[in-house]
Amino acid sequence: MTATAVAHPNIALVKYWGKADAQLALPATGSVSMGLDVFPTTTTVTLDGGSGAGAEARDAFTLNGHVVEDGALVRVQQFLDLVRELAGSDARASVVSENTVPTGAGLASSASGFAALATAASAAYGLDLSARDLSRLARRGSGSATRSIPGGVAVWHAGDDQGSFAEPIPAPPMAMVVVTIDAGPKPIGSREAMRRTIATSPFYPAWVTSTTETVGDMLDACAAGDFTRIGEITESNALRMHATIEGAFPPIRYLNARSVAVFDAVGELRAAGLEAYATADAGPNVVVLCQPADRSAVATALASFGDVIESGTGPAARVLRSEESGSNPDQKESV
Ligand code: DP6
Repeated sequence: MTATAVAHPNIALVKYWGKADAQLALPATGSVSMGLDVFPTTTTVTLDGGSGAGAEARDAFTLNGHVVEDGALVRVQQFLDLVRELAGSDARASVVSENTVPTGAGLASSASGFAALATAASAAYGLDLSARDLSRLARRGSGSATRSIPGGVAVWHAGDDQGSFAEPIPAPPMAMVVVTIDAGPKPIGSREAMRRTIATSPFYPAWVTSTTETVGDMLDACAAGDFTRIGEITESNALRMHATIEGAFPPIRYLNARSVAVFDAVGELRAAGLEAYATADAGPNVVVLCQPADRSAVATALASFGDVIESGTGPAARVLRSEESGSNPDQKESV
């Protein structure tokens, strides 16, 4: 079998920072995100034919035309082991992924990457998962990938293995402008930074308590279609996450002077009557939330800070093609 799927990145409006259970990838709190309609990851999973020989062979992973042999391959193999366990299969797989996030755009590729892999692999291994179970599966690859399964505006619930999934929520139309101010590598990856924050930041317990409340406030604001409130909560929650991370020892600081300058510029846009709110993930780049009618004005206003990319609200992850390997393309079955 071979299956191809596509998924898009998402940006959290209420952030996920910290796991309650690393093995099951259960988050310490819920989170809320907006899926983007730019930078899709398209992934094809092809199962090696025949059983028996499969067990000794290894999975293969090609990303943007390059064969991957390092830790990223191990992460893909461990993820495929989960899929094989669910499917009762020992077939090895070849994974070919095209990730269109420009290098250094500051958007984590793990969200779209593992959402596309979960969608393609579950189709290739013949699993017929509900959207909820697909999002639970994607969670095991990367936490933020959970929210790239539903796309749109989504909540990812904290909970146990069964209860921790993402689902779409009603929200007003929104857009984002990604401001790439620094394309360099991160000083420390988010996985390790989360661990250090939990172990050493005195602010972490307050982050967990306050973010749990913030998720409820954000769900209320989304249900009410209150864009101003959504924006205010988004910017506040991002700064709370960064304050919590900065409280780690040794300290971790993702925002630099230019990031802070973008937050200031966004505040000035608001003072001038343009509703825009800033957020940032585990890196210096800033993403600005606005209403769809304002996105080109926001992009123009922030163009002097770096590369700007506009995005609307993106779609759910989906299977593009699914067929028997080597079958006549005319007979292929699309799902
Ligand atoms: C700052 O999903 O990359 O972007 O679960 O360890 O793979 P793992 O972490 P990851 O962390 C994302 C952190 C964040 C906030 C967010 O997307 O909610």
